[in-house]
Amino acid sequence: MDYFNYKNGVLYCEGVKVEEIARKASTPVYIYSARTFTRHFLQIKESFGSVPSTVCYSLKANSNHDIIKRLNKFGAGFDIVSGGELFRALKAGAPANRIVYAGVGKTDDEIEYAIKNKILCFNSESEEEVENIERIARKLKKTAQICLRVNPDVDPHTHVYITTGKKENKFGIDLIRAEQLAIRMKSYRFARLKGLHMHIGSQILEVAPYVEALGKVVGLLDKLRAMGHQMELLNIGGGFGIFYKEKTARPVEEFATALMPMLKKSNCHILLEPGRFIIGNAGILVTKVLYTKQSGDGRVFVICDAGMNTLIRPTLYGAFHRIWPARDAAKINGEAPAEPPEGRALLTADIVGPICESGDFFAKERKMPAVKRGDLLVVFSAGAYGYSMSSNYNSQPRPAETVVDNKKFRITARREKYNDITKLSS
Ligand code: LLP
Repeated sequence: MDYFNYKNGVLYCEGVKVEEIARKASTPVYIYSARTFTRHFLQIKESFGSVPSTVCYSLKANSNHDIIKRLNKFGAGFDIVSGGELFRALKAGAPANRIVYAGVGKTDDEIEYAIKNKILCFNSESEEEVENIERIARKLKKTAQICLRVNPDVDPHTHVYITTGKKENKFGIDLIRAEQLAIRMKSYRFARLKGLHMHIGSQILEVAPYVEALGKVVGLLDKLRAMGHQMELLNIGGGFGIFYKEKTARPVEEFATALMPMLKKSNCHILLEPGRFIIGNAGILVTKVLYTKQSGDGRVFVICDAGMNTLIRPTLYGAFHRIWPARDAAKINGEAPAEPPEGRALLTADIVGPICESGDFFAKERKMPAVKRGDLLVVFSAGAYGYSMSSNYNSQPRPAETVVDNKKFRITARREKYNDITKLSS
């Protein structure tokens, strides 16, 4: 469910014409609907509301300042994976005691920065990391709360690049090693074991892998309690999938219902770390058609001013995103279709960007209405892992980001200028 809809062939984000934002912010531009992401956040919060819980928005999906600020007002916590994300969260006013920190490669400086700021906990991914946190915390004469990230060896049936809870993945600690580490941690005085963490992957559409993984994690929780550890936190990660072809939201209640008996029994404060579910369908990328052309074999290319530098998901994962003009000549109403209705496919085209690589595309052989130079195209479901994975490749400036709230919009990050690209060189 989102608030991007065509009225009489013109695309609106909430109460604002997408064309108007593109005119003001120039293209390419990311547009986020505040009503959509707060709705999705509250949906998760309410679904898990029958246990004491905190929904920690995963900053890596989209770390826009305005989004963090708005979610913070609704009581969100934040999941971070770097010192940079900690800096962003604190700068946006996030309370440190709602911040959880995962990632396999935390540096000494990052650990020190997080301990000094008194974050809620580290989600630790190896024995050496925990040892290092104990050492740094001792040096600082401060305590650090630890959740062990467990690798439950469960297949979440998603893209191989975003599968994180199988034993061959670099993430987490296997159940046996985690138990052995917990025995050692009994003698640690500064790194305190407070709970367990799991995150089995991203864009997961099935409930069963969560249930299987949580079953294993909860089993370990009981063992660690029997050892005398005070296990207060249980973090079940993020990964709730969204639909890219249809606009409907995957009912998160189904996950909650299936997991609830185990969550209740755990007697822990439950943490969740969703990113995509909150912001994925709440964002679009608007790009301008620069040229259209035909190749020697009759293939049509629609060449846009955004490319893999702006949104890398199609290139990296073969991801499908709906793409439709911001103004539709047939004056459609409602949502953008994944495929044109019968008789409306005037064009079958590769939608590509300006980058000097053949892998630079948003879609291949996509059926769509005819478009021409100067038209605006909209790439839907681009709110998660869009801007946050964008780059300056080919020295392209990163686009502006805007947030719409009802009838108003604000440019929350301006488009980069050439000076921004060279500002670190001397
Ligand atoms: N927690 C941890 C420890 C994670 O590694 C991630 C995502 C999340 C939470 C949030 O997952 P979500 O709810 O957004 O699925 N770039 C890829 C996705 C990478 C996900 C990385 N980790 C994509 O564009 O599909």
